[in-house]
Amino acid sequence: CSPQMADDSVKSEAPAQQQQDNGDNKSLQMTASGNGETASENQSLSKRQRKKLLKQQKWEEERELRKHRRKERKQQRRLQRQNHQDEDGVDTQSARKRLCREVTPSSLRLIVDCSFDNLMLLKDVCKLHKQIQRCYAENRRALHPVQFYLTSLGGQLKQSMDEKDKGWVNWKDITIKTQHYSEVVAKEDLIYLTSDSPNVLEELDEKKAYVIGGLVDHNHQKGITFERAKELGIGHAQLPLGSFVKMNSRKVLAVNHVFEIILAYLEKGSWQEAFFTILPQRKGAVAVLDETTAQEKEDKDSDSDTDTPEQTEKKA
Ligand SMILES: C[S@@+](CC[C@H](N)C(=O)[O-])C[C@H]1O[C@@H](n2cnc3c(N)ncnc32)[C@H](O)[C@@H]1O
Repeated sequence: CSPQMADDSVKSEAPAQQQQDNGDNKSLQMTASGNGETASENQSLSKRQRKKLLKQQKWEEERELRKHRRKERKQQRRLQRQNHQDEDGVDTQSARKRLCREVTPSSLRLIVDCSFDNLMLLKDVCKLHKQIQRCYAENRRALHPVQFYLTSLGGQLKQSMDEKDKGWVNWKDITIKTQHYSEVVAKEDLIYLTSDSPNVLEELDEKKAYVIGGLVDHNHQKGITFERAKELGIGHAQLPLGSFVKMNSRKVLAVNHVFEIILAYLEKGSWQEAFFTILPQRKGAVAVLDETTAQEKEDKDSDSDTDTPEQTEKKA
């Protein structure tokens, strides 16, 4: 897996112009600090160079002053924060934040089934690892977090987690098992989410445990989760994508998108909103309603007798 790009931008203290002039200044510094620095040498500098030199000296002289001012500003900010605390010592700002975000955990169980580890190349396992990290982070900040399970954890995925994200052992509000999900949850509670199922999910049942296939396969393992669900004799269903969105690509979504759609549905109570909030733009999702309206408009336009022969020709 390639490491994530770190934001290594560093704010410089120097004014923009000074940064631009770096090249020049280097040569100036050499002139100014060389062994034989004299006033006459300084005089041999051009007016522009002298001005630059003076500016740089001033910048150096004021370094301490700037440091002092920074400290003062920091102190002021700290005082302001303290003033926010009301008489009872309650930090009103964070109390307000908490009020705005009343978290009510859902009893719905959402399982990522990691039993396909040996079917994936390492680069795809790394992608799956990132998708799982995303699911975890989104669930932690959701208004209605689900009961998150990872089952059949082992092999390349666990190795990737151990190597690149040791902190996973301290993850909270998640159940991580090496066992298969069928050993963890009663069969009658299980519903496998799979785009190949003929059943379309209408709503979510918070008493059920929904399973997402932990798989990044670029559609090479077509129908594998549907087959597994049938073999095991458990329920299965596809997301109701077709009823709400028209997409310019396949309706097979990534693990984290399915996970986030479930979280969004629990929060908004609408599939349409959930799909449009989560689906990536490159999937080209368009509301089915919008499509119908566009089609109706087109039909109306072509019925219209105000069309000039030229327009009619263009449409044809
Ligand atoms: C990248 S897909 C894997 C596709 C794989 N070929 C299969 O047979 O499931 C990852 C998982 O997301 C879930 N998923 C993706 N699209 C879905 C949809 N439209 N409806 C329900 N579940 C979906 C499924 O659980 C699927 O296993």
